[in-house]
Amino acid sequence: MDVEASSAARRQRGTADGAASALVLRAVRRVVRAADAQSPCRVLDVGGGSGVWAVPLAAEGAVLTVVDPSPDALASLSRRAREAGVLERVTAVQGDVDCLGELVSAGAADLVLAHGVLEVVEDLPRAMSALVSALAPGGMLSVLVAGKAAAVLHRALVGRVAEALQVLTDPAGRVGPRDPLLRRFDVEGLSTLLADSGLEVDLIQGVSVVADLIASSALETASGGAAALAELESAASSTAALREIASRLHAVARLPVTG
Ligand SMILES: C[S@@+](CC[C@H](N)C(=O)[O-])C[C@H]1O[C@@H](n2cnc3c(N)ncnc32)[C@H](O)[C@@H]1O
Repeated sequence: MDVEASSAARRQRGTADGAASALVLRAVRRVVRAADAQSPCRVLDVGGGSGVWAVPLAAEGAVLTVVDPSPDALASLSRRAREAGVLERVTAVQGDVDCLGELVSAGAADLVLAHGVLEVVEDLPRAMSALVSALAPGGMLSVLVAGKAAAVLHRALVGRVAEALQVLTDPAGRVGPRDPLLRRFDVEGLSTLLADSGLEVDLIQGVSVVADLIASSALETASGGAAALAELESAASSTAALREIASRLHAVARLPVTG
């Protein structure tokens, strides 16, 4: 493959990844935009890292608290927020989900994000309980997690068949004890986790159904280019048989108003 061709493939892959992320942003923006203009949406981003999601939501008018154990990630978040002109709407707090109750007020968030976090926490039920406790009644939890089926497929497609089988047969979807992720999810497992946490599932969509599967050589010549890929990614995300093989699963669930 020549240099020109590979950079074209990289561009296309970047566009395909962007289209996948846009699906997540579209769903959480909907929650932010539904907030009353007089009282902006209060968003808590747990494991928010360098602000990939927090900064665009602050730009929508939300007020954000980002909790993350990594000081480096929080420094990047502050830099990003300053550059985007939203620093006054973003509060960075160093800490982790296990001590969330000591860091933020209970029942005060209209939207809680836990993106890329549930795969790495030691105690999943405890983490879920902390996330739900932070929600205001009627508030929404958005979770983005690694997909199990994609981890099987991606390994099998490059010939790592034994690893693929290991992910498939391990109840947590891990390759082994050295796997950096503690668990991977399927749609049923994610739905059950949310329901068992007292939430009503609003949406489960697949993120990167096709973007991570298409070979670079095919990307270069993909008919319809980036726009067609984005359209395919969007349609596949909500197609039951296809979302199950997405690299990541995105769910939005509501804490019911009781009494
Ligand atoms: C894969 S990154 C995801 C970052 C961001 N949420 C995103 O979607 O791009 C995982 C983040 O979770 C943070 N993290 C790891 N363990 C955590 C824990 N126990 N509680 C909260 N955050 C944690 C890491 O520091 C890191 O920033």
